[in-house]
Amino acid sequence: MKLRPATADDADFLADVLVAAVNWSPEWPPKSRRRVLAAPNTACYVAGWPRESDLGVVAEADGKRVGAAWLRFFAPDAPGYGFVAADVPELTIGVAEEWRGRGVGRALLHAVEDRAKEAGIARISLSVERKNFAQRLYFAAGYEVVGAGSEQSDTMVKVL
Ligand SMILES: CC(C)(COP(=O)(O)OP(=O)(O)OC[C@H]1O[C@@H](n2cnc3c(N)ncnc32)[C@H](O)[C@@H]1OP(=O)(O)O)[C@@H](O)C(=O)NCCC(=O)NCCS
Repeated sequence: MKLRPATADDADFLADVLVAAVNWSPEWPPKSRRRVLAAPNTACYVAGWPRESDLGVVAEADGKRVGAAWLRFFAPDAPGYGFVAADVPELTIGVAEEWRGRGVGRALLHAVEDRAKEAGIARISLSVERKNFAQRLYFAAGYEVVGAGSEQSDTMVKVL
């Protein structure tokens, strides 16, 4: 497995990852790619990728993309689910199903944090449903709950 910066050519793959992240729970009927990319509250994570301030990492194995993590800044009048401030980008992360539980997610998270530090970013935020085991990964990586996004979700922040 190798990690590399995400580029404009990864736009479709990032959209795949976003769809997987939205559909993380097997308990809910999956939302179609078309629906995820048509709804402003989910499409906003990849629309127009890459914007100048976007920053991401892609994991590849056997020449195939198997996961990605990226950061995007949002404005207060058009916030993401995990918005805390205009200068704090929000994390999206996902790993192909057959590659989960093998350390790819943790490696992606560390890599995107390293790139953020290099870019002078001081904090990263995210939104996660408490039932999603992704939250364990975030706790272990030093993210702290700063508020409740909804009845089921937390907003978390890591100071880099
Ligand atoms: C969340 C996700 C990105 C994690 O990536 P991953 O490659 O599976 O995770 P890793 O193998 O690096 O594991 C990191 C930690 O996650 C947790 N974890 C991973 N798989 C787990 C599982 N099956 N059950 C419980 N916890 C698990 C553990 O805390 C693990 O740490 P440990 O190995 O020390 O126990 C990935 O599972 C995924 O794509 N999920 C669907 C999309 C999603 O939910 N995105 C996040 C939305 S907020």
